[in-house]
Amino acid sequence: MTQALETQLNTQIKNSTSATFTKLVSKEGGFEYDLDPINICENTFAPLEVAYDYDKIRATVTRETIEAGPNSIWRYRPFLPVATDNVIDVGTGMTPLVKSTRLARRLGLKNLYIKNDAVNMPTLSFKDRVVSVALTRAREFGFSTVSCASTGNLANSTAAIASHAGLECCVFIPADLEAGKVLGTLIYNPIVMAVKGNYDQVNRLCSEVANTHGWGFVNINLRPYYSEGSKTLAYEVAEQLGWQLPDHIVAPIASGSLYTKIHKGFKEFAKVGLVEDKDVRCSGAQAEGCSPVAQAFKEGRDFVAPVKPNTIAKSIAIGNPADGVYALEQARKTNGHIESVTDAEIIEGIKLLAETEGIFTETAGGTTIAVLKKLAEEGKIDPDETTVAYITGNGLKTQEAVQGYIGEPLAIDPKLDSFERAWDRAQTLERLDWQQVLV
Ligand SMILES: Cc1ncc(COP(=O)(O)O)c(C=O)c1O
Repeated sequence: MTQALETQLNTQIKNSTSATFTKLVSKEGGFEYDLDPINICENTFAPLEVAYDYDKIRATVTRETIEAGPNSIWRYRPFLPVATDNVIDVGTGMTPLVKSTRLARRLGLKNLYIKNDAVNMPTLSFKDRVVSVALTRAREFGFSTVSCASTGNLANSTAAIASHAGLECCVFIPADLEAGKVLGTLIYNPIVMAVKGNYDQVNRLCSEVANTHGWGFVNINLRPYYSEGSKTLAYEVAEQLGWQLPDHIVAPIASGSLYTKIHKGFKEFAKVGLVEDKDVRCSGAQAEGCSPVAQAFKEGRDFVAPVKPNTIAKSIAIGNPADGVYALEQARKTNGHIESVTDAEIIEGIKLLAETEGIFTETAGGTTIAVLKKLAEEGKIDPDETTVAYITGNGLKTQEAVQGYIGEPLAIDPKLDSFERAWDRAQTLERLDWQQVLV
């Protein structure tokens, strides 16, 4: 971007009456920066965070103004870092908050809710939230090509929303992703770079490309804006609970961005008086085969040591998480837990959610449910706590994970006697104990 364009954009934001975001601030040392496409503090190498004018938000935003807004994340626009009214609204957000009965009973919890981003629009994961914000901002910066380093869902989302917005798109993924994730990107016809390496290697390569190509990388140079989109997962839950904060949340951790931004969202709503403040306990979920934050939590360390991922939960397989340390701090400060579960437990988690609530999630959601179960069984969730489990992606994209662990259709002829024989056989098949689940 030229110096002249940058100056023009910063002036545009400063003069915008609707923009409530004011600057970028380093997470270490408080160094301040203009609202440019940058993500790292030059002095401390810490991530940059968007700061807002909360007095301005408090003066103009009420529960009623939000309720009168669009049925999407953009009803919370004053809390999002975009300067113009020309937002990309593809219907992202306002996904169901499901009050659980069967899963709750199974786990011995009385007030369990599932935030179901497995049905988020347009690409069936929470990433549509962060990408809607990032590409709106990318357009404001004047980028014509957008990109990302992705574990799968982000590539789906970036490609789809770039198509909608008419932006050129080139995404980078590890070469060994699930077929559904790859197809779910290719269908939008972007350039897809399948890198022979893990996500952390993809990410390093993308940082170099971002420096040389002048593209808008949603999770690199646009990361401070992009990550703010995850706060809408907190706002929606608060609104859907009748303008109250939950007592406890359980969410997956990959880079740690979603987990930390949910907490920021709750704090912001309390700060501007939309809800009563509360210390929401934040628990995090990782797969044992990639659990650098859970390991640090368990060992009482205040640093996160990078690991080499080896798990079926590819979408959350980030061995060197950018916000890992902040996630760790947040779990301790809020009296939450960060736990890890094995691949076998993840598969069980996927099946348990499907069989009790009718929600088919991917491996990240299986991880969340398995950790929820573990915490409930260990008494780390009070049965009376209003607990929200965040289901962030859809199971149809990671079918490989459950193949071989579910039943098979009974092949029959189109004849009544063939059906009757199969029905008799079905009664003898080993199946889940429905009595226990359904009661
Ligand atoms: C389905 C799903 N859930 C959760 C996450 C975790 O995201 P974060 O990197 O913000 O921790 C990801 C990351 O890609 C994901 O794809």
